[in-house]
Amino acid sequence: MPTYPPEPFRIKVTEPIRLISPDKREAALKEAGYNIFAVKAEDIFIDLLTDSGTGAMSHDQWAALMRGDESYAGARSYIRLKAAVEDIFGFKYFVPAHQGRAAENILSAVLVRPGQYIPSNMHFDTTDANIRARGGRPTNLVIDEAFDPANPHPFKGNMDIAKLKAFIEKIGAEKIPFGMMTITNNAGGGQPVSMENLKEVADTYHSYDIPFFIDAARYAENAYFIKLREKGYENKSTLEIARETFSLADGMCMSAKKDAIVNIGGLLCMNDETVFQNVKNELILREGFPTYGGLAGRDLDAMAVGLYEGLDEAYLAYRLNQTAYLAARINQAGIPTIQPAGGHAVYLDVLATLPHIPQGEFPGQALTVELYREGAIRGCEIGSVMFAHPDPETGRMIYPQLELLRLAIPRRTYTQSHLDYVAETLARIKERAAEIRGYKFTYAPELLRHFTARFEPL
Ligand SMILES: Cc1ncc(COP(=O)(O)O)c(C=O)c1O
Repeated sequence: MPTYPPEPFRIKVTEPIRLISPDKREAALKEAGYNIFAVKAEDIFIDLLTDSGTGAMSHDQWAALMRGDESYAGARSYIRLKAAVEDIFGFKYFVPAHQGRAAENILSAVLVRPGQYIPSNMHFDTTDANIRARGGRPTNLVIDEAFDPANPHPFKGNMDIAKLKAFIEKIGAEKIPFGMMTITNNAGGGQPVSMENLKEVADTYHSYDIPFFIDAARYAENAYFIKLREKGYENKSTLEIARETFSLADGMCMSAKKDAIVNIGGLLCMNDETVFQNVKNELILREGFPTYGGLAGRDLDAMAVGLYEGLDEAYLAYRLNQTAYLAARINQAGIPTIQPAGGHAVYLDVLATLPHIPQGEFPGQALTVELYREGAIRGCEIGSVMFAHPDPETGRMIYPQLELLRLAIPRRTYTQSHLDYVAETLARIKERAAEIRGYKFTYAPELLRHFTARFEPL
């Protein structure tokens, strides 16, 4: 079992959670059409649906909210956020946005034209969708190790540099308005990217005059993984590592709902002045004036404080050990997870846990439902419900390579005993795994069906 530093905070404000009875859980499941997204939050005991915007703010962040300056233009809150953004990320220009996908939308509107390609290690689904919405073609070129759940590679989020070079040669640099990297790689299990790889990616893009943008939602977790795992970085601070990371890039977009530990917020940064002018015009149209970008002044202040708190090494040591601890306890119960544990979430290998349920009967959904039934815990299916689709030519269903249940850990929110409860619940499910049955759709929309689909047990 990994050593687990105690939570580096004490609890000043509490929010009650309640464990409703098994009968009430069964009724809640039925009413929700066995879709965990439709279960009311008050009927959930431990909510691991996402780590986005669900963290606990510190007393300094709550104090900062009171300093919020709600002036429409040039607010003091903006000036404080600007100082933090310049200090940590070092880009020449930036705008706030209300969340990550808003920043992606503005970036795509300004830079992506129909038929252009945007390579990355792996695009997160909102980035992918925003590029596609402008007629662009997002392309994922992560290393092959990312697709092997048992492979313990320390930087499974790395870009495959040979694939990237071959891709640019094949497509032509003129068809690539910018290239990206997602740190850490959420779509690939919250896996980090090494500094060595980031440097190679930057060199490759720049040798073809392609601007390099980072999707920086989990920049601090990535920096701490580099400190722990990459030679030469053990004595550097996470702030120094973050500065080095962003010095390689020409810009970044970021959901601040992750490592800036705020409930809402985002950032878009860049060095190019013309791009900045166009971004500001688009922002005014869609989000708000460039000094508030769709946020309240108080949100900007909370973000300015959170950007530093996310980099605190005592916090990061606790945070990354939390996922490693939960993964180790779940493995002890006989359930394999993606190795090594990612930064923000534990991903359960469902095909190894429920091998008797074929992918067409949604084993990931079955395990997600079971986790709620057994312990009122909410996780997120990342498998056939989310990704299976018919082949456009043959009509045959194409199933994803991995069938996963993701347990995302909100920041500074749950204690070790909550995680023990999750692991013990899963151990009980594992004992009766052979009895668990699959599901079929009773309703499924064409796109993003996992949010609103309804099911029936088989
Ligand atoms: C890597 C990554 N990029 C972008 C986003 C989108 O951010 P938001 O949910 O704030 O729109 C997310 C959200 O989960 C993410 O994980």
